[in-house]
Amino acid sequence: MRSLLFVPGDSQKKLEKGLASGADVLLIDLEDSVALEAKEEARRVTSAFVSEHRGKPERPRLYVRVNGLTTGMIDADLDGVMKATPDGIVLPKTVGGADVAHLGAKLAVREAEFGLEDGATRILAIATENAAGVFALGTFAGASHRLMGLTWGGEDLSADLGAEANRDESGAYTDPYRLARSLTLLGAAAAGIDAVDSVYTNFRDMEGLAAECRAARRDGFVAKMAIHPAQVPVINEAFTPSPDAIARAEAVIAAFKANPGAGVVGVNGEMLDRPHLLRAERLLRRAGKL
Ligand code: COA
Ligand code: MG
Repeated sequence: MRSLLFVPGDSQKKLEKGLASGADVLLIDLEDSVALEAKEEARRVTSAFVSEHRGKPERPRLYVRVNGLTTGMIDADLDGVMKATPDGIVLPKTVGGADVAHLGAKLAVREAEFGLEDGATRILAIATENAAGVFALGTFAGASHRLMGLTWGGEDLSADLGAEANRDESGAYTDPYRLARSLTLLGAAAAGIDAVDSVYTNFRDMEGLAAECRAARRDGFVAKMAIHPAQVPVINEAFTPSPDAIARAEAVIAAFKANPGAGVVGVNGEMLDRPHLLRAERLLRRAGKL
């Protein structure tokens, strides 16, 4: 999983476009990109789309973003789409592991009702859309066997904080959003799940997007969300381990294999110990080579 493309769940046209975008995951949205009057229509369109494409061999994974736990809409969302068996559910406005456990219980009921295996539906939590969510980032370990990843959001958080902007004059995120981003990374690592970077809203600025992808990969995020199909190739390229990186990781692993029992080895004038080995193994696992 490298790229996750948001597609409004009431737009048949965008859903079809999303399929052809090259995204690894479609995040089919029933929440903020769908107007209140269009929720019912969006559930219908989304459910039909997931049913139609669920069984096809070459397809992105299909996740549905439902409305949050406090909206009074989430049960209707789940009732509307779970029969179509999406690969996962995206939970917005998540406040910690308790919210994930709550969604897990709702999914368990629907899985049983529709004859699905318990835990078949994965959960991706958007975990920093309000201040309370940021303070709860350390609580995701063990919340649910369905939880596969954590991501963060800077747009809703800025609304919760009453901020005028979330980036400074140079385009860099200001402190509250850098904190939310960093704590998401740490929270995901502490819970043993994937960290997914947030969207880059300026969908015409490919250089800015590429720079943000590189920074995210450097820090440990394994994927990034997109809002426009044109962002997908940029994200895929950034999060696909390069041949160079794979070769370096293989060299690290080979050096440890050649020195069984050694805690530390030297490769090309660089000291390597256990964290380097773990990092190399992680990269190869991501590249599907381990
Ligand atoms: N998924 C699939 N197709 C998309 C798309 C998306 N996220 N965003 C744009 N497209 C399609 C457009 O429909 C258009 O198709 P067309 O050429 O057949 O007319 C094409 O890609 C080019 O789009 P463009 O004209 O550049 O942008 P736009 O003005 O039509 O759309 C947005 C801009 C922001 C409204 C649109 O990108 C969008 O809906 N993004 C997702 C928003 C979302 O889900 N937000 C919630 C999470 S933050
Ligand atoms: Mg939102």
